[in-house]
Amino acid sequence: MDFQRWASLQDYNTLALPGRAEYLCTVNGRDQLRQALAFARQRQLPVTMLGGGSNIILSGDIEGLVIRLAPTGISTIPTLASEADSDRVLVCAGGGENWHGFVTHCLEQGWHGLENLALIPGSVGAAPIQNIGAYGVELASHFHSLDAIDLVTGELLHLDAEACRFGYRDSIFKQELKGRVAILTVTLALSTAPEVCLDYPELRAALADSPAPTPRQLYDAVCALRRAKLPDPAQRPNAGSFFKNPIIGSDQAAALRKLHPGLPGYPQPGGVEKIPAAWLTERAGWKGRRVGAVGVHDRQALVLVHFGGGSGRELLGLAAAIARDVRHRFGIALELEPAVLGDPSAVREGPVGAAAEGASTAESGEHAGPGE
Ligand code: EPU
Repeated sequence: MDFQRWASLQDYNTLALPGRAEYLCTVNGRDQLRQALAFARQRQLPVTMLGGGSNIILSGDIEGLVIRLAPTGISTIPTLASEADSDRVLVCAGGGENWHGFVTHCLEQGWHGLENLALIPGSVGAAPIQNIGAYGVELASHFHSLDAIDLVTGELLHLDAEACRFGYRDSIFKQELKGRVAILTVTLALSTAPEVCLDYPELRAALADSPAPTPRQLYDAVCALRRAKLPDPAQRPNAGSFFKNPIIGSDQAAALRKLHPGLPGYPQPGGVEKIPAAWLTERAGWKGRRVGAVGVHDRQALVLVHFGGGSGRELLGLAAAIARDVRHRFGIALELEPAVLGDPSAVREGPVGAAAEGASTAESGEHAGPGE
């Protein structure tokens, strides 16, 4: 196996930020992963797993061993005899598979349910970490189980949906198991009968002319919506949403609405509302603003972009300035959505700093939409 020393990670993070790995290797399957972990243990190196690099802010170099998973394929799992006649199909994908490629493959095979999650950047193994989601569907809606290796003990773990403790952009892998596992395979429960989720108003509007849209039409509509709003990382480096949509008490939302009558909000169980961070940052005047080598996308105020030649520190500085401004204007704290890797001292003070501090695990992905 090849362990590269001080390898550049600029091509392995979709923000194209500079930074290196002290050691970098790509592993193919469980045995190679165990070999890589043994290499790290012998040298007492910390281990960082890297997914598609689409949900990380790289701030300088990463000490220790950085591991990437090679794609290992997609297969179906025979279902129980009692389920043989049902529409359900269990599909297992390697953690190193590309997420969008996997969604497209499932559509082509007639395995439905993931169409709303088309074009989300990142890898399959990263998807459960933040419980990726968009347009009314999240990974948890179709999740069956996953196999992972504990990076510390080398033990094989098998976790079902309950054990993963999924929440809005959250799971056990962002809590107790943060930075502790490599997700080798993910198994999803899909449907051989067409399943079309049109809960998200923007998607319903886009498909208003089709009375009974097919899964293919749904997939195409989601791709078109994303392409219209979200910059392609290959053209304009970015990491998707930069902040989570904050959740505040309905009382606070009602009081704020008196001052800002247009404030949107999506009521959630428990007397709280999810507020679009994009609305807050746009109202605070940040949409389309550029500061040096970094800025805010001009079509989606929740996406920060890198114009080239900048650094993670610069980007985190911009995020902190936006969060301070939003807190000052609306009294709402914004929390960073991607994980910060590298030098944690680059994370500034304030709500963004507090949220990002200690973030050490990578893996890419993105998450549930505002109404979810
Ligand atoms: N809005 C603005 N200005 C903007 C963009 C949006 O005011 O520039 C307001 C509008 O009121 C709009 C609302 O924000 O109705 C919601 O916007 P949008 O539908 O674009 O969704 P979002 O909250 O910005 C979330 C996810 C996205 C996901 C979309 C679609 C989060 C943090 N983000 O974005 O996920 O694709 O919903 O489901 O939950 C990602 O995580 O990287 C990501 C792109």
